[in-house]
Amino acid sequence: MLFKQQALLRQKLFILGSLAIGSVLYLVARVGTLDRLQPICPIESRLPPPEPEQIPLRTLQFKRGLLHELRKGNATKEQIRLHHLVQQLPRAIIIGVRKGGTRALLEMLNLHPAVVKASQEIHFFDNDQNYARGIDWYREKMPFSFPHQITIEKSPAYFITEEVPERIFKMNSSIKLLIIVREPTTRAVSDYTQVLEGKERKNKTYHKFEKLALDSNTCEVNTKYKAVRTSIYTKHLERWLKYFPVEQFHIVDGDRLIMDPLPELQLVERFLNLPSRISQYNLYFNATRGFYCLRFNIVFNKCLAGSKGRTHPEVDPSVVTKLQNFFHPFNQKFYQITGRTFKWP
Ligand code: A3P
Repeated sequence: MLFKQQALLRQKLFILGSLAIGSVLYLVARVGTLDRLQPICPIESRLPPPEPEQIPLRTLQFKRGLLHELRKGNATKEQIRLHHLVQQLPRAIIIGVRKGGTRALLEMLNLHPAVVKASQEIHFFDNDQNYARGIDWYREKMPFSFPHQITIEKSPAYFITEEVPERIFKMNSSIKLLIIVREPTTRAVSDYTQVLEGKERKNKTYHKFEKLALDSNTCEVNTKYKAVRTSIYTKHLERWLKYFPVEQFHIVDGDRLIMDPLPELQLVERFLNLPSRISQYNLYFNATRGFYCLRFNIVFNKCLAGSKGRTHPEVDPSVVTKLQNFFHPFNQKFYQITGRTFKWP
């Protein structure tokens, strides 16, 4: 009996001993292997610089496919139901400024998979007739989107129209408001150029910019001229601030959006609480056009229409200086209120 127990104990000890030796041998071998796998220098330094993040293909396919079809009115009610598509009121509006680069900003933001643009300027809040049609009319003007996406519209007339801040506030008091500005004198000349082109198209004659911008009696800046008034940004903004706190506005540098759009777009992504998805891949400089154009994917890219980026007429330098001096104090106030400073003269 005693002999049997001793034999069993010896057997157990033998098994345990074998297991222990086996584990030690395994660990030695494993550590050796791991040592050999350690890179001589960190992996990052051997890789090419990271590729800029690209937009998820599936969402883009929807953006260029289904949502595009919906815009053209080709998608079926079944598809709308199946994909839970909705027409949402905008959660952000580009309220101005006319000729600041509002179209470029909207189109570039639309590169983001979480953004859906209202293609047309809706003019709901600045046009009394449209406003009288009610909020459901406005909603029906919005594009279809997935519930997690945000809709953005732009109507630059909103910025300068008296009634608009109160009306937007009544719709959504926490809406995000985007204002894209350019150096005020350049913006005024751009504004003039657009009107001039319209007149020329109708074979009408038009005054020179200098004549409109200066009062012929006093030779001072003509504040009755709309292109001048629109460029007094602070005056308009002050009306908006009666309804919305300054944190609800984001000021976009329209001059930088022309030269180097990506950093400006990244600031807007942050303001809208969106993950950073627009990359350098989505923006390329087109030398023929003289502007940045948009690349959605390997097959689809586009530049803005020719009406964006017109050649401005030469303006008498003394008039330019006069206008710049006139805008200067208003600009200072604008910087103070918004916290965004520009190198405007
Ligand atoms: P100009 O025609 O004076 O050059 P808006 O869309 O508000 O009317 O603004 C038009 C301005 O957008 C144009 O003014 C142009 O300079 C500017 N812009 C900014 N980025 C652009 C882009 N990528 N392509 C074309 N125009 C652009």
